[in-house]
Amino acid sequence: MLDLLITNATLPDGRTDMAVAVQGGRIVEVTEGLQAPAHETVDAAGQLLSPPFCDPHFHMDATLSYGLPRVNQSGTLLEGIALWGELKPLLTEEALVERALAYCDWAVAKGLLAIRSHVDTSDPSLLPVRAMLEVKKRVAPYLDLQLVAFPQDGVLRTKGGLDNLKRALDLGVDVVGGIPHFERTMADGAESVTLLCELAAERGLPVDMHCDESDDPLSRHIETLAYETQRLGLQGRVNGSHLTSMHSMDNYYVSKLIPLIAESGVSAVANPLINITLQGRHDTYPKRRGMTRVPELMAAGVTVAFGHDCVMDPWYSLGSGDMLEVAHMGLHVAQMTSQAGMRQCFDAVTLNAAQVMGLTGYGIEAGKDASFVLLQARDPVEAIRLRATRLKVWRQGQLLAQTAPTEAQLSLPGRPSRTAFMPVRAAGG
Ligand code: FE2
Repeated sequence: MLDLLITNATLPDGRTDMAVAVQGGRIVEVTEGLQAPAHETVDAAGQLLSPPFCDPHFHMDATLSYGLPRVNQSGTLLEGIALWGELKPLLTEEALVERALAYCDWAVAKGLLAIRSHVDTSDPSLLPVRAMLEVKKRVAPYLDLQLVAFPQDGVLRTKGGLDNLKRALDLGVDVVGGIPHFERTMADGAESVTLLCELAAERGLPVDMHCDESDDPLSRHIETLAYETQRLGLQGRVNGSHLTSMHSMDNYYVSKLIPLIAESGVSAVANPLINITLQGRHDTYPKRRGMTRVPELMAAGVTVAFGHDCVMDPWYSLGSGDMLEVAHMGLHVAQMTSQAGMRQCFDAVTLNAAQVMGLTGYGIEAGKDASFVLLQARDPVEAIRLRATRLKVWRQGQLLAQTAPTEAQLSLPGRPSRTAFMPVRAAGG
């Protein structure tokens, strides 16, 4: 007898009337129209069953701190960093843990079950690191939290920056981070990339750097990151986050750069909500969008994912852990409005994000973890359009969250009273 059988599901690749059989927390079979005895059978009624959402770029130590100790008036990245600097002396481990746990509750309710969070290692106390390691332990039964040692104030620019980062890794942080564009000079930035990649190679760890989060077209640290990845044999475990300078770069240079990124096996994470908000702030009109060249990177075979980056913190006052909102913004900013483009944006917050994070056991196929989200939508495009309700969220066969279908009772003069999906589906719905 199966533990769980989900019937009549639509999968993101378009297969319909699919049954997913679950035993012992794993998927044992995915096949069309299967009927089999199970302790629990769920009729998906043709709705979309997706692998869970994954956020490959977040800041869990800053989340839900909006307004502490004040609000970012200019809305710029640099004021955000300054504001975070004002907040840091006021932080307590308890408050950090509490806010992060609250955010993880939101995440699970939205079907977001894997998050890679950068954690600031600049302060020698490593308070945020200790707090996030505690959170990682506490959420482990229901959410995969990966931590990146992130030297927010610059690994070379901060006194003791490298030592602090190494101590964070010693405590159990999973990934080596960096911020080359924030070092004092281009040369220091490049040197930081080299030494952090060497550190990752030495310790057998992945790398995920904030890289070229700038409108400066001459910020070319991604070139060094790709080079060092190849030199040190780190292919497949290095990610460049943001890469916003690529938006402003000369096209001729980019025509050389993108093949180098593809060849190096470096993946890319764009953060559409934050990039469209923070970049282009020094422009008058026209204002640059600032997001990296997503469709061009994808076309070259680079794995590109979308991250949420910030929710209610010194850099961003909105957000709710909804990766469909992230995909929605990403497809607008990148103008990926074709059917294929919109589906790629769905992949950017599911499959590609899981790949960037190096998750194993991810996907709806036999042998993988029985982790998925049932959406009130019939396909990935509709899911993005409606920011679809997460009807049910399972992790390894266990039901973690449920939300009632979104619907409205309409009583319109001159029209029959009825129940309708809200936002209303297109004809044929
Ligand atoms: Fe970030």
